[in-house]
Amino acid sequence: MDITLQCIDCEKQYDPLELRYTCDCGGLLDVIHDLDRLKSLPLKQLFDERWHSRSFPYSSGVWRYRELILPVEDQFIVSKPEGNTNLYPAGKAGEYAGLRRMFLKHEGENPTSSFKDRGMTCGITMARLLHADTVACASTGNTSASMTSYAALAGMQAIIFIPEGKISYGKLTQALAYGGKTFQVQGNFDDAMVLVMEVCKELNIYLLNSINPFRIEGQKAIGFEVLQQLNWQMPDWFVLPGGNLGNNSALSKGLKELFDIGLITKIPRIAVIQAEGANPLYKMWKEKTAFKPLRQPETIATAIKIGNPISWKKAMRGIEWSNGVVEQVSEQEIMDAKAWVDAVGIGAEPASCCSIAGAKKLVEKGVIHPDELVIGILTGHLLKDPEAVIRYHTGDLKSLGIESRYANAPIRIEPTLDAVREALYEVRRVSR
Ligand code: F0G
Repeated sequence: MDITLQCIDCEKQYDPLELRYTCDCGGLLDVIHDLDRLKSLPLKQLFDERWHSRSFPYSSGVWRYRELILPVEDQFIVSKPEGNTNLYPAGKAGEYAGLRRMFLKHEGENPTSSFKDRGMTCGITMARLLHADTVACASTGNTSASMTSYAALAGMQAIIFIPEGKISYGKLTQALAYGGKTFQVQGNFDDAMVLVMEVCKELNIYLLNSINPFRIEGQKAIGFEVLQQLNWQMPDWFVLPGGNLGNNSALSKGLKELFDIGLITKIPRIAVIQAEGANPLYKMWKEKTAFKPLRQPETIATAIKIGNPISWKKAMRGIEWSNGVVEQVSEQEIMDAKAWVDAVGIGAEPASCCSIAGAKKLVEKGVIHPDELVIGILTGHLLKDPEAVIRYHTGDLKSLGIESRYANAPIRIEPTLDAVREALYEVRRVSR
């Protein structure tokens, strides 16, 4: 294989087919591509030729960029196919954020309805290459939904570790339905993460969290696809939520590689947005202190309820490279932004809406200019977490300190035309 694994701390290199996720020194690993060789290929032309391809594997919005992702033969590739998600003008949700040129990249339109599928197609392909028969992950929900689906497709056993009672029903439903063996850990995501790493090491099971460097490679394709959709015009900003911090690390790694091979000449800035109650990266960045995990993370955006993110070093590296920023948003800000993203007909789960809430805050602070071209990444589908939607619109989040400012509650009526007429009159009067 034309790639190597390299430690981000001590730069020690390893064979990509060696079963390992970290360096001997404990550092995270990067997949290193031969960028000098890639420079000589007409990559932009290749990617554009494959656009809208109906044939395997190029129908995938990940494998379209295979030279920059994972150089494996077709026979090993496990693909649904993923990617090819829409880039929507943000409309009123953009105006809400104070932006005139905002687009929303809807990664909830992937096969299992989150961006995780982009990493998972690579992760499961590597699992197949390494002859793994069992794969595992810890998850706040989306990774487990994705992994169980891809494992089923590849005929592998999937084992997932989830924090008990703390993942949304949409995601748990998927994992159970796809046949994943589900362990509800009495603890939070961070406890489940420590456990799964030990399990994988001791029981020789392939680990598919984003500590696995091949997951990161697949997720780089989000950025590649956005640029291709913009006809290789560079946005000024990418804004995305941060939990375990794999996704923003992937985005910056991919953009840096494009920059290093000369395919792009400008570096967009990356803004990582965390929930106030799960903000270890924000604290570190803001206070310029050493990284300190948070013991009891708490947020309604359960996808990013993480206190000890594995990829914080890669995230910081990418933020520094892109002259990026880290911001935090409150529960109220997340749910208000979500009401807007949903109401324009796009819709996304709570964590995703950090992108809009964060962009708004950064515009208000003067960090993002209202005329800049901003890409907000929506990481998961609206239906991943129906409970959050119902509770918001029925005013049932007061106990969490969240007001339903943009509520659209169902209206109870008697089954008569008069009742409808009266109710509609009231609706129109209020909305005027
Ligand atoms: N948005 C959603 C919907 C997520 O599911 C996640 C992470 C993130 C954002 C944050 O991405 O971890 O790469 O910084 N979900 C993981 C999971 C942790 O287990 O599904 P990140």
